[in-house]
Amino acid sequence: MTESTKSGPITTSPTHTLDPTPTNVHFPQDRSCPYHPPTGYAPLREARPLARVTLFDGRPVWLVTGHAVARELLADPRLSTDREHEDFPSPTERFARVRKRGVALLGVDDPRHNVQRRMLIPSFSVKRIAALRPRIQETVDRLLDAMEAEGPPAELVSAFALPVPSMVICALLGVPYADHDFFEERSRRLLRGPRAEDTQAARDELDAYFSALIDRKRREPGDGLLDELIHQQLAEGAVDREELVSLATILLVAGHETTANMISLGTFTLLQHPERLAELKAGFDADEPLTPAVVEELLRYLSIADGLLRLVKEDIEIAGSTLRAGDGVIFSTSLINRDDAAYESPEELDWHRATRHHLAFGFGVHQCLGQNLARLELEIALRSLFERLPGLRLAVPAEEIPFKPGDTIQGMLELPVTW
Ligand code: HEM
Repeated sequence: MTESTKSGPITTSPTHTLDPTPTNVHFPQDRSCPYHPPTGYAPLREARPLARVTLFDGRPVWLVTGHAVARELLADPRLSTDREHEDFPSPTERFARVRKRGVALLGVDDPRHNVQRRMLIPSFSVKRIAALRPRIQETVDRLLDAMEAEGPPAELVSAFALPVPSMVICALLGVPYADHDFFEERSRRLLRGPRAEDTQAARDELDAYFSALIDRKRREPGDGLLDELIHQQLAEGAVDREELVSLATILLVAGHETTANMISLGTFTLLQHPERLAELKAGFDADEPLTPAVVEELLRYLSIADGLLRLVKEDIEIAGSTLRAGDGVIFSTSLINRDDAAYESPEELDWHRATRHHLAFGFGVHQCLGQNLARLELEIALRSLFERLPGLRLAVPAEEIPFKPGDTIQGMLELPVTW
């Protein structure tokens, strides 16, 4: 990352001022049920809105668990996302290893963050994304045709949940889908390792891939967001090459991994709630299908990105505590989105509630750039899946189906289904 993308200095001493009294609650932990927060977080619910947890390296950090406090803090410019700062908290060893490499948008504070974000906002507006509906529907239909032609049974992650967002983000960016085995495998290693070296190598390989792709696109322009960025922002000097590689990486990785996990875990969760699923299917025939409300409630309920990271730049008084400059802060979206001060019966999957203000996409200046796209993909994918295959069910007992560990984006590793 270039100097210009770095945020301002932390104003007070970088030593950890947070009361280091050890807590026996570690963060992150594995879920025991893929759609509920880890049972080991129970003491943290008691301590709402703010608790202390211990990271893998023994460091104590603040864990935000209350909905109102989370919104206040996520909108507070005294919290930084500059992961290159030596005091930035690392939830895993592999994150600690790659964080110095910098990440566009998510790892950058304003004002540079704002410059990067403004370049991209038009491409992710509700209107531009809505125009992709026919293309997304066509992609989903083609994948379901193939599943029907080959099955049953099928493994839903590889046959459907992963290729839908992967194909869509490729089309949007102008990345050849023919390279999907390459970048899906690197994205997996980037987010899940398992070893720190795997993550580091994956980052190198993705950087090299995008560097070569940018060179190729300079010679042979195509049509996609990446082409626009190369021939406008890069050509005009609004962004440098290193920054563009980093932007391309985050857009590609965030653009397919997250939504793929929501499709697989969302499908699993609906199959485990048969009465709700019956209601969803009944709604397909109604004039106003339930799908958008179902998507919103699933986003809240599943909170797949559970652990947003920040560093305190200046002391903050909140909820009777002082967050001191240099302290690490983590937002547990799975607990925040089940705060009973914000939602009635938060443990229930119920799309009749007002769910829209959930924090599954974060909040404040870093709130998910791709949320309109994610919503549309989820709406089309879930509706089409259950409309085309009304008899869809798990092909093996639920307890046998592997899901992702707690230190990454949550979702199913595999989802064997039949119909
Ligand atoms: C259901 C799927 C998705 C979920 C749950 C999700 C979740 C999130 C969350 C929680 C954040 C904020 C992180 C923080 O504040 O630390 C975020 C940021 C971001 N997301 Fe998503 N995301 C999803 C889909 C997408 C898609 C499809 C894209 C497409 C490109 C995308 C691109 C981004 C980017 C670029 C950021 C960084 C924004 C910034 O820092 O300004 N996401 N996402």
